[in-house]
Amino acid sequence: MYDWNSIISRSDDRRWRDIPLSVWKYHNFLPQIKESRRITLNEGGTTLYNCKRTGKLFGTKHLYVKNEGENPTGSFKDRGMTVAISKAVQLNMTRVVCASTGNTSSSLSAYAARAGLDATVITPSGETSLGKMVQSVIHGANIVHIDGGFDVALELVLNLIEKHSDVYLLNSINPFRVEGQKTISFEICDQLKHSPEVVVVPVGNAGNITSLWKGFLEFQKLGFIEHLPRMIGVQAEGAAPIAEAFHNDKNNIKPVTRPKTVASAIRIGSPVNWKRALMAVRESEGDLVTVSDHEILYAQNVLSKYEGIFVEPASATSVAAVKKLIDKGQLTGDEEIICITTGHGLKDPEVVSNSTVPEKSIPTNLSSLENALNL
Ligand code: F0G
Repeated sequence: MYDWNSIISRSDDRRWRDIPLSVWKYHNFLPQIKESRRITLNEGGTTLYNCKRTGKLFGTKHLYVKNEGENPTGSFKDRGMTVAISKAVQLNMTRVVCASTGNTSSSLSAYAARAGLDATVITPSGETSLGKMVQSVIHGANIVHIDGGFDVALELVLNLIEKHSDVYLLNSINPFRVEGQKTISFEICDQLKHSPEVVVVPVGNAGNITSLWKGFLEFQKLGFIEHLPRMIGVQAEGAAPIAEAFHNDKNNIKPVTRPKTVASAIRIGSPVNWKRALMAVRESEGDLVTVSDHEILYAQNVLSKYEGIFVEPASATSVAAVKKLIDKGQLTGDEEIICITTGHGLKDPEVVSNSTVPEKSIPTNLSSLENALNL
């Protein structure tokens, strides 16, 4: 797709590596779209946190979190969406569509609003969290609820675009989404000034792990990094067809018909990008790990209480997997580990409010307040 020789010559002036991070900083690695024609909300440039307190708790020395919840609509999806919506505009498309567990919908709705496109999101009825739903509502997307999970929604959307070529698909099968998302890897390399040893990524439809791997491969090809990281994908126990195939050394997945997990964003039983995800993990000599709901919620809590970083349950799977692998001795604790946290915690407030103590008010006077604070 790219002319690498021309990218090398354009990238020869290494000073560009020092300009502030953003998706479009890496425009030489992206489909060529004129700056004035890009539909952007200033995506990317997310923080890479050194999580010393969590690392100490888990027994690992170099634990980092790349917090993708800092993107404009609160998830990593904005990186791919800025590129793919810009492409849709370049192609003169006026109607865009996606199936989604929520974050793709939020992102698509916002970017379509900015571009003035007509957006439709197809979402599993009763399964999408409130925070994500309201984003699609306020950005004015057409919201279609279906009886069935994400896999059914995606199948329906694929049938739709096959019949209506004027409707533009914005799920991660769209190659321009992948191009934008690979900038997470570029940013990590630029933030660390080298390539990490281990990258841990939540996996749902498996577009993101595929994109990240592509990013590292491209930086290696250009000689920007010396080694490639091990890619560790993480699925929730109740929705883990790719992990199952990996551990049984199979070249096919067996779809999970009723995926179950508290992490609604990755409640996916038949991920479309499974083949490329398996390849990324195998090529990088990585792993595919499963984590339970209990482990996910524990990790979400630890990140909130030890680091001040509030992520949604699907995001916390990466941190939960690190603890699990350290406990099992499959990570030594000496590696430089980057966990990708994919979405902001406020996306899914129900999960937290369901498990917190009910509100109880006190009489409005100082001594009652002192009593409440044990002072
Ligand atoms: N984390 C979050 C917060 C997500 O929203 C998703 C996917 C993933 C991880 C998994 O990424 O699919 O590339 O492997 N959400 C999609 C959506 C399915 O519709 O918003 P993936």
